[in-house]
Amino acid sequence: MLNWDDYGKEENSTPQASPQVNNEVVKQTAEAVAEEKSAVQQPVETDAPRTNENIGEGSRAEAARKAVNEIDEAAGNEELDEMMANAGRVQVDQKMMINCKADLNQLVPFKYDWAWQKYLDGSANHWMPQEINMTNDIVLWKSEDGLTEDERVIVKRNLGFFSTADSLVANNLVLALYRLITNPECRQYILRQSLEEAIHTHAYQYCIESLGMDEGEIFNMYREVPCVARKASWGLKYTQEISDPDFKTGTEETDKQLLRNLIAFYCVLEGIFFYCGFTQILSMGRRNKMTGTAEQFQYILRDESMHVNFGIDVINQIKIENPHLWDEQMKSDAAQMILEGTELEIQYARDTMPRGVLGMNASMMEEYLKFIANRRLTQLGLEEEFTGVTNPFPWMSEIIDLRKEKNFFETRVTEYQVGGALNWE
Ligand SMILES: [Fe+2]
Ligand SMILES: [Fe+2]
Repeated sequence: MLNWDDYGKEENSTPQASPQVNNEVVKQTAEAVAEEKSAVQQPVETDAPRTNENIGEGSRAEAARKAVNEIDEAAGNEELDEMMANAGRVQVDQKMMINCKADLNQLVPFKYDWAWQKYLDGSANHWMPQEINMTNDIVLWKSEDGLTEDERVIVKRNLGFFSTADSLVANNLVLALYRLITNPECRQYILRQSLEEAIHTHAYQYCIESLGMDEGEIFNMYREVPCVARKASWGLKYTQEISDPDFKTGTEETDKQLLRNLIAFYCVLEGIFFYCGFTQILSMGRRNKMTGTAEQFQYILRDESMHVNFGIDVINQIKIENPHLWDEQMKSDAAQMILEGTELEIQYARDTMPRGVLGMNASMMEEYLKFIANRRLTQLGLEEEFTGVTNPFPWMSEIIDLRKEKNFFETRVTEYQVGGALNWE
């Protein structure tokens, strides 16, 4: 705990030279500072008490005061000018998800309480990759017969995909999406999500480094391994569409482009492209293999399920506020995007699982991905595509289940303090 009394004491006490400090260096530094001061500052030669009037100052302070006095409070950039035109205290009914003209610097009053709640929940779930013990993974990865060749492919491909995928998501958030979502509580969550994406990239880097993998090979898979590269380039084109600094929403076409970006990233990239890899690595953890890596993935999955839920809430709110955007063409585009994503992920499953492994195989994963695709479609109010599919991995739903997530948040602190592993049951 910080104690404010300590600050007063420190100020009045005589500084003690640290034994490591070279006194000669200190002396030289003090002399240099004194010389510099005398060069720019003429001492005031008077016995009168020091006041603002008789304190000498250099030309820089004078220039700063002059600049401050000349600030025009009404001036600003175009966005600020527009907000000033609607000046005054923001009312809830002025707030809108896109194309809002009200002052975005006023966080409250909240219109979308769910966005603020997600910001609070995400913050309560804060974790760091170094908190997870990787010792057993290192031993297993380096032992000759610890893992089968198929299991090793799964670990490498997934670290390859995810180590760059979270950077793609983060870039889309901060370079494209943030300025176009015109709501402060949602922007607050987007900032929280951006930090979480940085932590996820850190987690993958931490796994790659701990296991002593070839970093160049892993970080370049998104360009060099076709089933990984196809997923990355599918997402990238939606960032390119709206990341131009001159891109503006406000027309039907540009609003729809923004909507397509939200669907691409929240429903497909985070909502489908992560699911084969998460299932494979968590399945490994459940079999007591690569438990440190699996624990990292489990924390990430819990963050990701909140990202997906947030994005779907944003999309549905934009639909409510702008019903003309959600026309037959847009519905068809949205369904097409989700199904393209599902197909790419099925190809990824086949490529990473040429044979049955870890109690699963590519056709089970295909059914699971179709189950997820149906869910993404219905979350956007669209019809299911695949009839009769069921979830072959009910334990994944258990992990993602929101009520369990709450329990997880509440129990995590004590688990972390004793360094305990997560329970895979
Ligand atoms: Fe992430
Ligand atoms: Fe995410």
